[in-house]
Amino acid sequence: MVQGMPPLAEAIAVADQSEQGAALVKASEIRFEQVLFGYKSDEYVLKDLNFTIHPGEKVALVGPTGAGKSSIIRLLCRLYDVSQGEIRLDGVNIRDLPQAELRRRMAVILQDGFLFAGDVKSNITLGEDYPLEAVKAAAAKTNVAQFIEQLPQGYDTLLRERGTNLSGGQKQLLAFARAAIRNPGILILDEATANLDVGTEALIQDALEKLLEDRTAIIIAHRLSTIRNVDRILVLKQGELIEQGNHESLLAQNGLYASLYKLQMLEG
Ligand SMILES: Nc1ncnc2c1ncn2[C@@H]1O[C@H](COP(=O)(O)OP(=O)(O)OP(=O)(O)O)[C@@H](O)[C@H]1O
Ligand SMILES: [Mg+2]
Repeated sequence: MVQGMPPLAEAIAVADQSEQGAALVKASEIRFEQVLFGYKSDEYVLKDLNFTIHPGEKVALVGPTGAGKSSIIRLLCRLYDVSQGEIRLDGVNIRDLPQAELRRRMAVILQDGFLFAGDVKSNITLGEDYPLEAVKAAAAKTNVAQFIEQLPQGYDTLLRERGTNLSGGQKQLLAFARAAIRNPGILILDEATANLDVGTEALIQDALEKLLEDRTAIIIAHRLSTIRNVDRILVLKQGELIEQGNHESLLAQNGLYASLYKLQMLEG
């Protein structure tokens, strides 16, 4: 601990000292304080949101389509700014953090994860300078190494834009590897909606559990089976936080989560 430095400055100092800026893992606290947000000025899609996610805690966001789950993520990575209220990372308003630092501290895996035309390696490193060993380690950790090694040119295999030569599950795992190599303190996952076969689903579930270790995480799960092990589930409806708790306590409340869960059970 460096004396007299606020936690954030200290984290940056540590990151700068390390050989690769990405070597730092620091699980952070995320706090939403009275957050109001609308894409249009007269129409709020998030209404007075208050919650704190503790360092290392895994939280899931659940709710019907249009409830505002992805909007929360867009605010966190500052694709948009709040209309009112504050979002704080370890007490610091994210408006006061340089964009580069936000990017270093959180990995965001989006619903429609993108791939670009280039080889597998650079789709994991995003053009940054990592040794091949680090790329392989990230791929192994996220259960995608075996798949990559079976490709005609392994890590040098060219991928098409939109990843049309990959399955939905493979794209998801590649996105995990891209997050793993950066080793961020915060992981945000907007789960792909695509239906996955049982084998791929298990592979992804296992990779995700490894990826989540020692990080603060927010997971938007469309398949509620993904989130049975999270610490807390936040249930949103039309931009409001209407229930929270773990899986069992929410089932016992017999509210929106319980009905969403039962519906999914019926759908199989
Ligand atoms: N770029 C945008 N411009 C205007 N309105 C938007 C925009 N993106 C989302 N919205 C609206 O904001 C509301 C919340 O959308 P959001 O994408 O956060 O929902 P979601 O909970 O992620 O839904 P899903 O489960 O379908 O992904 C919706 O009413 C949506 O129509
Ligand atoms: Mg969404």
